Amino acid sequence: MSHDLFEAARGALAFAHAPYSGFPVGAAIRAEDGRIYAGANIENISFPQGWCAEPTAISQMIMGGAKRIVEIAVIAEKLPLCPPCGGCRQKIAEFATAATPVYLCDETGVKKTFTMAELLPCAFQTELAR
Ligand code: THU
Repeated sequence: MSHDLFEAARGALAFAHAPYSGFPVGAAIRAEDGRIYAGANIENISFPQGWCAEPTAISQMIMGGAKRIVEIAVIAEKLPLCPPCGGCRQKIAEFATAATPVYLCDETGVKKTFTMAELLPCAFQTELAR
């Protein structure tokens, strides 16, 4: 994984709005256009309305005009390894392939790499998927 993708994920931590959990998360996507799209978790006083760092990064990617996740890095301030939650795995899968690497990072760099197939085996698929 390139250093700039890691730096983008780590840099996103500073933008987290996580006053309720105190658990900032950063994510960064390299998309098929070669650009990097970063995001942080954004919580809400009405707790179920908050969302994770990964969908923030996906939103940035989509609004930047890109459609495919080439690689994605995730980092949490307070956890050495922060695997995407179940819902985020499905959201990432929408724009990734089974082989897309997911880098789990700490503040020093990548600690573990999974493919999407490893994180979301037997993913829901229909003929509607493009
Ligand atoms: N969180 C993420 O941003 N990504 C994940 O994959 C796991 C959890 C956030 C959601 C919430 O704001 C905080 O971490 C504590 O669960």
